[in-house]
Amino acid sequence: MRVIRLWLGFTWIYGGWDKATDPNFLGKEGATSLAKQLAGYSKTSPIGFLFQHLIERATIVGIVVMLSEFAIGIATILWIAPTFIAFTGFTMSLGLWLAATWHVKPYFLGSDTAYAVLWLAYLLALVGKRKKVELSLDRRGAIRLGGLGVSALIAILLGRSLAKSPVKTSTSATASANQILKVAELPVGKTHEFVTATGEPAVLFRTKNGVFAYSEICTHQGCTVAYSPADRTLVCPCHQSAFDPFKGARVLSGPAPAPLPKIKVAIKGDWIVLV
Ligand code: FES
Repeated sequence: MRVIRLWLGFTWIYGGWDKATDPNFLGKEGATSLAKQLAGYSKTSPIGFLFQHLIERATIVGIVVMLSEFAIGIATILWIAPTFIAFTGFTMSLGLWLAATWHVKPYFLGSDTAYAVLWLAYLLALVGKRKKVELSLDRRGAIRLGGLGVSALIAILLGRSLAKSPVKTSTSATASANQILKVAELPVGKTHEFVTATGEPAVLFRTKNGVFAYSEICTHQGCTVAYSPADRTLVCPCHQSAFDPFKGARVLSGPAPAPLPKIKVAIKGDWIVLV
């Protein structure tokens, strides 16, 4: 029990810290942007319709996620309201499983599934030990929970103050229903990130042979891939799948089971458009 408690506690604190120090997590650009991840989940998760509504509120969702991760981690280690916190941790892992790990095959490669089971086992052990679940809060408990909230907030502020500048990429929403950007704005050899009319993050390439584009939603678990000009590959930050954009986005390495979906684009007059 102590080993599980320490592992879960530190992992949740690290999860919060990783997001707090990530300059792109609350932004709209970069592979680790929560808004982009939510857009990916909205396409791949069985409860995708919920995530669709959260994309516009990604900043608030991100702050809630960081606060929750810090609070759950700190409370687990300091033994504050353990049963309630274990239930919260289980619920969060269950949500992540539905959001990000649902399509992972075989299932044991999905870490969220393992964490959901670990939290559940921990929760059941706590409930079994206590015989009854304590959900009432005395004055001391309320003060500890208040302190927990303040600690989580301080941890986020500290992480944000240490975060580097966000990664800047050329990004735009489509100018009209099908216009992406003007041909003159995308020199040969450059890429441009955009969002399709259905909210799908995508990346556009221009070579001397023309233009082509792919969805940025990884075919493994729906994380957002990013183009690495140094390797000339699209790389997924979650489990390092790599795709070759110059060969149909075929999988070069990693657990992704299929190439990235192609998005049909063409040059029409001065514009690059969706077709
Ligand atoms: S989501 Fe796992 S490799 Fe992309």
